[in-house]
Amino acid sequence: MQVARWLHVLGVVVWVGGMFFAHMALRPAAQALPPPQRLPLLAATLSRFVAWAGLAILMVVGSGVALIGLAGGMGAVGAAVHAMTGLGLAMTAIYAWLVARPLPQLRAAVAAAHWQEAGAAMAGVRRLVGVNLVLGLVTLTLAMLGRG
Ligand code: HEM
Repeated sequence: MQVARWLHVLGVVVWVGGMFFAHMALRPAAQALPPPQRLPLLAATLSRFVAWAGLAILMVVGSGVALIGLAGGMGAVGAAVHAMTGLGLAMTAIYAWLVARPLPQLRAAVAAAHWQEAGAAMAGVRRLVGVNLVLGLVTLTLAMLGRG
């Protein structure tokens, strides 16, 4: 139980904390750079981050499912855990879409030095990361304050 909780929170810290850093610190600071410098930097940073985020998601979802099993199943856990599960799966779907579509488009456009296309793909990535960051912070708040 303790190990599952540790893995769960460790995964949440890496995933949500990484999105907070990317969205709130890296992206606004990188805006000062011209596109041929900014977009390769963001594409390389995001490519590394999504690999760690993928591992973190496996930890969060795997340990979350284990915690539900240890608690006696979905019928034995409260509404906050039901909401957390739904929000966590929605966040995972958004992550999967980001990795499948806008991120490869961003990488391809950067490799071809098509800065306008790269900028458009980056705008898509930014929106998805922004939505997932909000969902992550809401989920965290529910997990900590919604248990009654
Ligand atoms: C499929 C996804 C998820 C499942 C199945 C799941 C399941 C669970 C379960 C069963 C618990 C234990 C509840 C308790 O002891 O009262 C828990 C705790 C927690 N979860 Fe999740 N969760 C998921 C995703 C998330 C996400 C996305 C976040 C945050 C962004 C999150 C944050 C937390 C936190 C902070 C705790 C409290 C840990 C503690 O105090 O020990 N979970 N989760």
